[in-house]
Amino acid sequence: MPNLPIGIFDSGIGGLSVARAIIDLLPSEPLLYFGDTARIPYGTKPANTIRQYSLDITRYLIESGAKAIVVACNTASAAALGTLRSAWPDIPIVGMEPAVKPGANATQTGVVGVLATAGTFKSQRYADLMQRYASGITLLEDPCIGLVEQIEAGELNTPATRQLLEAILLPMIRQQADTFVLGCTHYPFVAPLLQDIIGPERTIINPAPAVARQLQRVLTEHRLLASPSAGTNHQLFFSGPLQGTEALARHMIGPDFTVERLSI
Ligand code: SIN
Repeated sequence: MPNLPIGIFDSGIGGLSVARAIIDLLPSEPLLYFGDTARIPYGTKPANTIRQYSLDITRYLIESGAKAIVVACNTASAAALGTLRSAWPDIPIVGMEPAVKPGANATQTGVVGVLATAGTFKSQRYADLMQRYASGITLLEDPCIGLVEQIEAGELNTPATRQLLEAILLPMIRQQADTFVLGCTHYPFVAPLLQDIIGPERTIINPAPAVARQLQRVLTEHRLLASPSAGTNHQLFFSGPLQGTEALARHMIGPDFTVERLSI
């Protein structure tokens, strides 16, 4: 049982930024990853639709042997985490949330830029985070229209992506933002470009390492940590065409994976 894979899913390649953090912390854990590239983006779709997609994908991952699930997508976590935990109460399920609390702790100016999707901003989960952690802090929110698509197209450092990011970030800097929360798992793919635009004196918060630590805690509690073994191979599945995806996956998680197309 402990050597079974961790099931992880996202609307596309974004969740591989979380996979990267899991591999860094838990290198013996095999990953079974599903990226729903045929139906991306999730961030602009109704919550009901995302909930149904998340139920179908989680069922597939559990039936394929996953011992735990990571919802490596902020939009799907906001729409479906409670539903998934009710549907599979015996399986540990870890989700994402925009790092409003770490952002509020890190800011010196009291102004935090939050980059996430429209679906995440509309969610009750985000409203609760704001209420709990952001009193006295100004949150500048942007739904980053088109950024997920640029990243899926492999445009990680092109003039068009720079222009899109500058249009989001420069107004936030003019309003004194000094801390930027990555509230979508795709955005770490453009973190180097983002840092170049905001400058080294401003901070980016990527919640992926904290999610990996949470997964480690949960696996330890459930006695599900894999025993150390060499050469873990990860299985990646995508619902859309594989062209380009494999290179992006290699960029984020290295060479040790197989990749196949799969419809759920
Ligand atoms: C998207 O598909 O719009 C991105 C989802 C997310 O990570 O929030």
